[in-house]
Amino acid sequence: MSSVSSGLLTMNRSQAVSIQKHTDRVIDGLLASLPHIEHLSADERRGIIARYTAVLEGNFIYWMTGSFLSVGSEEARSIILDNLREEVRDGHPDMLRRFAIAADSVPTHSDALAVYRDVLNVRRFVGRLSPAPSVVMMAFFEGFLQRFMPYLAELAQRQGSVEQEYTDVHGVCDVAHTQGLYRALETELTLTNDACEHVNLFEGVEMLQALIRKIIVGQPDVFQQDCGKRSARHGED
Ligand SMILES: [Fe+2]
Repeated sequence: MSSVSSGLLTMNRSQAVSIQKHTDRVIDGLLASLPHIEHLSADERRGIIARYTAVLEGNFIYWMTGSFLSVGSEEARSIILDNLREEVRDGHPDMLRRFAIAADSVPTHSDALAVYRDVLNVRRFVGRLSPAPSVVMMAFFEGFLQRFMPYLAELAQRQGSVEQEYTDVHGVCDVAHTQGLYRALETELTLTNDACEHVNLFEGVEMLQALIRKIIVGQPDVFQQDCGKRSARHGED
């Protein structure tokens, strides 16, 4: 390896480390803002599991695929492909669906509507196929999910569920997935070093952060309110 490329890798490693420090602080903030489980009603517990399922079941593999399509380095492609293979081979969406069924928390129409706007924002961001910001978002997502699993598991237990395969698996495998994605980020930064100066690397993280807050709080969004007003108007006609 030339001294120039070795120097570039060292620089990218330190940039990836400082990016991870920032995303870890965002995760710390999200976890600290979670409501105390003992203060939640059964309906509030059900809502969090249902909105989580509404978001993750159909979007996680889609968004990871977006990262795969956006990256340019062979190493990043290989790391993300391994991640996708595990998701599909081990049937993670089915694991999550069984988790929601057992906790009597299958998403309803209202649950899907509550997260609609924030899901749409993330979908539009993923659709831009921005390499480094997309990998930063998924590394942040994996890091959050791994640390969120004990909370999610306790919500389900308090709903009377004993189905814990989803939370057990993701409390473990997402540690390696997170580290893999930060390694993928290092190689992507090597390819896009100049461009990154003009790119907000945390744009996807900010959108996911808003979406996660909506999963937890579950307030109806503008889209839902608009629909409500429209049907009320139709009722008056
Ligand atoms: Fe998964």
